[in-house]
Amino acid sequence: MKAIAVVPKKKGSARMIDVDTPVITATQVLVKVKLVGLDGTDKEINEGSYGEPPEGEKMLIFGHESLGEVVGVGAEVKAFKRGDMVVATVRRPDDCINCQAGEYDMCLKGDYTERGIKGRHGFLSEYYAEEERFLVKVPQSLGDLAVLLEPASVAEKAVRTAFTVQKRMKWEPEIAMVTGTGSLGLITAMILRLRGLEVISVDASDDAYKDEIFSELGIVHFNAKKINLHDIPHEIGRQIDIVIEETGSSSVAMHAIMVAGTNAVVVLASVTGGDKHIEICSDCFNQGLVLGNKTVVGIVNAHRRDFEQGIVDLLAAEARWEGLLAKLITARYPPEKIQEALSSMRENIKVVIEF
Ligand code: BGC
Ligand code: ZN
Repeated sequence: MKAIAVVPKKKGSARMIDVDTPVITATQVLVKVKLVGLDGTDKEINEGSYGEPPEGEKMLIFGHESLGEVVGVGAEVKAFKRGDMVVATVRRPDDCINCQAGEYDMCLKGDYTERGIKGRHGFLSEYYAEEERFLVKVPQSLGDLAVLLEPASVAEKAVRTAFTVQKRMKWEPEIAMVTGTGSLGLITAMILRLRGLEVISVDASDDAYKDEIFSELGIVHFNAKKINLHDIPHEIGRQIDIVIEETGSSSVAMHAIMVAGTNAVVVLASVTGGDKHIEICSDCFNQGLVLGNKTVVGIVNAHRRDFEQGIVDLLAAEARWEGLLAKLITARYPPEKIQEALSSMRENIKVVIEF
């Protein structure tokens, strides 16, 4: 079967290869891949700054945002049948206390693997095999939009974490700021709107297509080229209660922490693979956190419950803003055009590979 693989740490190495079609065991499900979304992590993997092959192998089949159809089930599989549409979770556990409790997204030891990212092949292939416990059934009514479920699960974890840590006090948030308006930022903004919050978004993009999306969602967008992040609270005349940082830029992350208001929560969700250094006023940074009782929390990956909540919210978003989610999928490429697909990510919201 066709698959797309990289040689991790080698720049620009993504290409099509031919591999054996997987054979399932009694507890596994065989999935025919329909769509695979690409994100910043995939870009970094192709650029050679992130990603690890499975032990003893040289290549990694990447891709972790999947949507596929069940075409085979092992004799002991209970929850799935042929024809079901499924999205696979990404992380696989090690033997730490969190992983053993089913909370692999909170792995303590770091010996986890991630399909398509770290030590385990991903979903950019015609078929994949998986244990049923790592699959999530998606409603047929979502159609192709279900390819957005994996990024939605990360957004759900960010929002869930914000609300969980804020149980530290009486808290009635009004305004959230999302930095970064890629697919993850836009889905996060949508979820926050569904929770009844006012949302502002910030990033350096200046794009009429996105402006329409912002206005449909009822979010106020600031162009980071025209306004300094630090001036935004003054500009809107209010303090910011929640910041969710998804630009992929560590310097924006540091400034976003400083811009958050009193008692605010800042959720950092960008995996920044480089080694960028910036200078900040560390006294201001520290004092702002201390005197503002602010909390900053990092999040990665997602729990199964975040995938389940993601389904609820994707359906709710489709009901409230009909056709809007489809506008996030702005390009589709066949597997042969993987390099073209990766380089088109700059000018797109979500690029998907269609098998
Ligand atoms: C994926 C997560 C993963 C993270 C770090 C993200 O792009 O969505 O599932 O944990 O990268 O590898
Ligand atoms: Zn673990």
